[in-house]
Amino acid sequence: MKFLIYIVVFVLLFNGLTANRVENSLVQRYCKKSSHNGAPYFYKFCIASLEENADSQKARNTDDLTLIGTNNALSNLTNVRKIVEKIVNEKKYNSKLSKKLLKNCLKLYSDGYNALTSALKNIKMKDSDKLIFSLKRAKKAPSLCEMGFNGDNQQVSPVKKENDVLFDVINIPFLFNFNNLAAGPI
Ligand SMILES: *[C@@H]1O[C@H](CO)[C@@H](O)[C@H](O)[C@H]1NC(C)=O
Repeated sequence: MKFLIYIVVFVLLFNGLTANRVENSLVQRYCKKSSHNGAPYFYKFCIASLEENADSQKARNTDDLTLIGTNNALSNLTNVRKIVEKIVNEKKYNSKLSKKLLKNCLKLYSDGYNALTSALKNIKMKDSDKLIFSLKRAKKAPSLCEMGFNGDNQQVSPVKKENDVLFDVINIPFLFNFNNLAAGPI
């Protein structure tokens, strides 16, 4: 009798655990593919970032998650742009050169915004090739912005952390679709 109770408790517990797992399996599979061959932290980052958006609960397929990831990227980029605008407007930069570089970043964010808007259209049209191209173009905004500060200029970027995160956020839909095209659908 005691043994039976153990079995029942075990079955209930196990069902509870798997039910939870099934619920998030789409996000997990998505992130597994987008972090394939990537840095180990990226898988966890991907899951946290997609689940931050309540829409991911309703996602039925990977296209839905690509749409959510791209919308996340768009709002992230808009936020980083606002931070840089504030630094420029309030003259919080360290030097004339830094001001010039930040203004260049604002141009890059504009390009990135346009690229992400194109990406949303590409998702609607189910055009994977163009989508990969658009997301790749969007990634240039945070990376070229940072490159201006480093190298010969040797300036400290006030938004290094924000740019690094933005790069990763754009990488979520980019790497999924890039790896998906290379390896076939999951
Ligand atoms: C960008 O997105 C990440 C992950 O979703 C979040 O942690 C971060 O706060 C966002 N940054 C901005 C500036 O919105």
